[in-house]
Amino acid sequence: MCQTVELNQSVQQKFHRTREELSSALVERDQEVDLLLTSLICRENPLLIGPPGTGKSMLVDALLSWMQGKKFSILFSKFSMPEEIFGPVSLNGLKNDKFIRIIEGKLPCADIAFGDEIFNASSGILNTLLKILNERVYEQGDSSKTKVPLKLFVGAANQWPHEQESGKELSALFDRFLMRKRVLPIVSKAGRERLWWNQPCEVKLTSTISPEEIDTAQSESAAITWTAEAKEAFQSIITQLAKEGIFPGDRRQAKSVKAVQAYCYLEGKNQVELEHLQVLTSILWEDPSEQPEKVLQIVLKIANPTGMKVNSLLIEVEQICENADLKQLAQAAVAASKLSEIEKQLHVLGNHPKAAIARKHVREQIKKIKLDSIEAL
Ligand SMILES: Nc1ncnc2c1ncn2[C@@H]1O[C@H](COP(=O)(O)OP(=O)(O)OP(=O)(O)O)[C@@H](O)[C@H]1O
Ligand SMILES: [Mg+2]
Repeated sequence: MCQTVELNQSVQQKFHRTREELSSALVERDQEVDLLLTSLICRENPLLIGPPGTGKSMLVDALLSWMQGKKFSILFSKFSMPEEIFGPVSLNGLKNDKFIRIIEGKLPCADIAFGDEIFNASSGILNTLLKILNERVYEQGDSSKTKVPLKLFVGAANQWPHEQESGKELSALFDRFLMRKRVLPIVSKAGRERLWWNQPCEVKLTSTISPEEIDTAQSESAAITWTAEAKEAFQSIITQLAKEGIFPGDRRQAKSVKAVQAYCYLEGKNQVELEHLQVLTSILWEDPSEQPEKVLQIVLKIANPTGMKVNSLLIEVEQICENADLKQLAQAAVAASKLSEIEKQLHVLGNHPKAAIARKHVREQIKKIKLDSIEAL
């Protein structure tokens, strides 16, 4: 048996509560919330890529408001100058033949930072930015190095870098983001209705978290151990990916271990089990065009076969509800009977938490169909 670690439950509880509050305030953003919080726990950089207006800034702003400490946000444009990010050049320094910047209030002093439209960063900014993101070190013009306090740097953009003209130049920056996710517009009918009729959508968080508490979460999650089964599954995922021609780099593989532990911490556990490997779906690929889907299939098949089955049943539920005209009694009856069939299939999956939530959702949909039919009469 592996030894388990004792965790500071009040800090872990804070993460748990904030995860719930963010997920319930934003529509269909559970995975993005997990991605940001997991990144914070393992001190890695997350990246959100999605079309305008999909709630990226809303989510990041809410997360930043939760965190105490020095904050820095910037919307990069092709014309962003190094002084906007790293501070103005010190005139006193120049008088003494030194090229140093006044970094107060800028990225090198920040505990948490948000770089919107990150792939607009020009080559004059990239080198210094890469060092901060990767090594948490700020290199001054005079070659002196300073450790930065940065705990989280969230990047966001509308497009993957390879879809942009300067894609090649940006590949090093892209690689600095361990966890990456495409943010899709809201897909479900129920989600869209929430977006339309629950305005203004506000995120109310009931706590804040200090830099010291974040340090606690980071060091505790780094000490979390793995079950033998989870270790074997990790090995098996890497082998399966190689068979598909997907070879995540060594640094990415090493960091992915820490990210799994961070996700385990976020899940309120103190030992890595099979299902915590799900987080690898946003890590173990390099090329965003085809690999994410393949990685998703391989990881979920090994780490969470039940969750995968639930997901596909939920997609069916969504299609049934979208396609049926519930004002037509015959169509409503067929839809209700199909949903009852799906509910039975979910029962077979037992006490899995996702299956239980899905069963509740299906029962609510059946009830809604019945009420709509009565109204139509
Ligand atoms: N998933 C969502 N849940 C709740 N509200 C949302 C969601 N997506 C968008 N909105 C609404 O749309 C507004 C705009 O979203 P936001 O500015 O965060 O988008 P964005 O992804 O940052 O866009 P851009 O790429 O243009 O910066 C939000 O303030 C909110 O009112
Ligand atoms: Mg935005």
